[in-house]
Amino acid sequence: MEIKAIGCEPLQLKRMHVKDGHTLKVYQKTGGYESLKKALKMSPADIIEEVKKSSLRGRGGAGFPTGMKWSFVPKDSPKPKYVVCNADESEPGSFKDRYLMERDPHAVIEGMIIAGHALGSQTGYIYTRGEYKYLIDIMDVAIAEARDAGILGKNIFGSGVDFELHTHTGAGAYICGEETALLSSLEGYRGHPRMKPPFPAIEGLYACPTIVNNVETFTSVPQIIEMGGETWRNLGTEKSGGTKLWSISGHVKRPGVYELPMGYADMEKFIFEDCGGMLRDDKKLKAVIPGGSSVYIMNAGQILGKNVILDYEGLVAAGSMLGTGGMMVMDETVDIMESTKNLTEFYKHESCGWCTPCREGTDWLVKIFNRISEGGGRPEDAKLMLDICDNIEGKSFCPLGDAAAWPIQSAIKQFPEDFEKWLFDKTGSNGVTANV
Ligand SMILES: Cc1cc2nc3c(=O)[nH]c(=O)nc-3n(C[C@H](O)[C@H](O)[C@H](O)COP(=O)(O)O)c2cc1C
Repeated sequence: MEIKAIGCEPLQLKRMHVKDGHTLKVYQKTGGYESLKKALKMSPADIIEEVKKSSLRGRGGAGFPTGMKWSFVPKDSPKPKYVVCNADESEPGSFKDRYLMERDPHAVIEGMIIAGHALGSQTGYIYTRGEYKYLIDIMDVAIAEARDAGILGKNIFGSGVDFELHTHTGAGAYICGEETALLSSLEGYRGHPRMKPPFPAIEGLYACPTIVNNVETFTSVPQIIEMGGETWRNLGTEKSGGTKLWSISGHVKRPGVYELPMGYADMEKFIFEDCGGMLRDDKKLKAVIPGGSSVYIMNAGQILGKNVILDYEGLVAAGSMLGTGGMMVMDETVDIMESTKNLTEFYKHESCGWCTPCREGTDWLVKIFNRISEGGGRPEDAKLMLDICDNIEGKSFCPLGDAAAWPIQSAIKQFPEDFEKWLFDKTGSNGVTANV
């Protein structure tokens, strides 16, 4: 498992290989909390301005501009305001946030306190998936250390600013990573998504103004304050500022967490040089899901010799999306009907059941996938699945429905032969025969 920066100085990964980097002592020795001291001397408006200048876009998948989101929080609201860290990290293929929390927990805390000061909030929550209980234990120790050192609580560093931080675990539900479902869960309700608008920035936790940001988004904030928004942005591109963590898994020799500057050129080089190329030398690249399972799958023809740029715009131009940067690489032994079936079973299991298109649609899709893999596929099944996807995409209550539809739509489009083989020959592209 590699953890390293390529094409830039490690920023997010700065303390990944530093002994005891998770402790307050080592964090401060390596420059930690200096950005907070600087930020506490800045006005909230100036902090938001720096974050806007940085072009930081949310690292939780949707890529919404962070500074703009922060500016939506009403300044004169009499209600308390909340800062929430989305540490649910449930997206299949994404595993970067866990390393930030495990090895650099104080960076998360520092980013959240700076956000609290910028937004006039005195309370923050870190929400993790149930399976990340061990990370909450690490975060709790770091929070206690910071509290004992006067970095959390009242009058931080004598600035007059107060901020308190709490941790909370969910019970391992993908939907609780969706920000409004997360807030429902945090309030003690079932993790169902809520209607937007009102957006959380206006009416979030306990109906109060709330900012929800991803772990990596928060750990970017101290860097932005330290070097200034413009300098940070220039590490990447005009529209996609800074550096980005990529979780890479599957059929590569060196899977891991990599930090790349936004705009890194290109995906082929990243896979074949930086990540060591195909796991088995005699196997060819077949497919890549570049941004976590909820984005369009790409075939080798969309990548090889195509100079696919690794940033938000580059991946859209190449026919997919950056998402969370959870890149899954598949060689020619993978049958795309089977891999898509596997993902669809995940979405069916994780559909919260709140809205009909997602609840019923994902269930029907799994039934059809099962029929196909058992050798009972009908010639019209690919079309039928696209029809069901069409009734889910854009018609479900929250984006989980889109996330379930996109892998299937793109798989049928980019790998029609893998579906045809099952529907007509009752076998998989990798030689697997249906159980007829
Ligand atoms: C089904 C679903 C699951 C999600 N899971 C996560 C998650 O685990 N972590 C995360 O940061 N964002 C997740 N998101 C995105 C959040 O809703 C939200 O956009 C994000 O927390 C905003 O923070 P950011 O702007 O810093 O990315 C998910 C969205 C959906 C629709």
